[in-house]
Amino acid sequence: MFEITREDLGPNFTFGAATAAYQIEGGQIDGRGSSIWDTFSATPGNVKRADNGSVATDHYNRWPEDLDLVRDGGFEAYRFSLAWPRLIPEGIGAINPKGLAFYDRLIDGMLERGIKPYATLYHWDLPSALMDKGGWMNRDIAGWFGEYAALVGRHFGDRLHATATINEPWCVAFLSHFLGIHAPGYRDVRAAARAMHHVLLAHGTAIDALRAEGAKNLGIVLNLEKAEPASDSAEDQLAFDYGDALFNRWYLDGLFKGRYPELLTNRLAQYLPDGFEKDMEVVSRPLDWLGINYYTRGLYKYDATRPVFPYTGIKGDLPKSDLGWEIYPKGLEDLLVRVSREYTKLPLYITETGMSETDDTRRVKFYDSHLRAVANAQAQGADVRGFFAWSLLDNYEWAEGYTSRFGIVHVDYETQKRTPKGSYRAFQGMLHNTR
Ligand code: FCB
Repeated sequence: MFEITREDLGPNFTFGAATAAYQIEGGQIDGRGSSIWDTFSATPGNVKRADNGSVATDHYNRWPEDLDLVRDGGFEAYRFSLAWPRLIPEGIGAINPKGLAFYDRLIDGMLERGIKPYATLYHWDLPSALMDKGGWMNRDIAGWFGEYAALVGRHFGDRLHATATINEPWCVAFLSHFLGIHAPGYRDVRAAARAMHHVLLAHGTAIDALRAEGAKNLGIVLNLEKAEPASDSAEDQLAFDYGDALFNRWYLDGLFKGRYPELLTNRLAQYLPDGFEKDMEVVSRPLDWLGINYYTRGLYKYDATRPVFPYTGIKGDLPKSDLGWEIYPKGLEDLLVRVSREYTKLPLYITETGMSETDDTRRVKFYDSHLRAVANAQAQGADVRGFFAWSLLDNYEWAEGYTSRFGIVHVDYETQKRTPKGSYRAFQGMLHNTR
């Protein structure tokens, strides 16, 4: 059980659970096109045990049971993503009617159960046909993504409670094009610099397209961390400046100040697309809300041997999840206060938080302490309006495959049986009778 109560988060606070298409749907049938995660996971060495999303949690077929779990847990909102290659198999051009029909069923299923749909357009499953054209490295992706956003706005917009363009642009750009950990697995500074700008240009273009179709309540989901220097030396302070700029400020400054941190535009000058400054007005289009995914802190130590960015990320001595991520609720509190003081007064939503762990009693404590952190941030003026648990279900955790379990509901991958964990019961206990 949680110590925190629903009342501690104030009236009108939205509780939800979150998932993403590639991680749960499976159902690679009915005209769904190939995505970069299908090919990345089919390439040796990229994903533990070469796990892939071809079956995942079979949500494509089992979605009614999953939506029942959302409702019965007392959650009033469900954050899900639409698979671009299911709707437009080649990324641009022909639309797949069976893809539209699937999300019609899913969204109508939420509405029938009294669950508010929080949609995300892009949670990493780029159509392979667009990767062939350079994917996020190609400036044309802004137009491609805008076309897809217009389709979603036109067809589903009036039934969606909220829509986010991109999930975690840092992961789309940096993790996937500089660190090479996620699809398409590039390790190239020019590729990364281009993706870092194009992902935000595509976001702004999609906001325009969604608005033009009448879609309301539009936002983006950033993964932010509490960045800290490894020590108080001047060198570690510089390391922190780079780490913070790359992880947090590139996106926050771009969206809310219409410019990127100079530290990075100087360092990346030769790699960024020419004339990127002219796009900043589109990048910083007004939004209706900001989603924040929070998991851990970043601890930065100076390292002169590293090219481009003179730091290395190190592990601190806080307790860790089974993926080795430090557990740091105070970081969430500080981060929310920082965003609301330095960047925006928009409503904030924790669109994801959670931990990979088999000992669920630790997960209950994790959620309890992070909800407390949200309440503390609210007391300092941060306008936080909602909290989504990552994740509703154990699922395909990207490069970790199925070895990592983030769900508040356990999934037996042999039988696809869903079993609520103690953390699900803790939410249910807190939310009982309040929907
Ligand atoms: C976030 C992703 C989500 C999941 C969690 C653990 O970065 O948005 O899909 O992988 O981490």
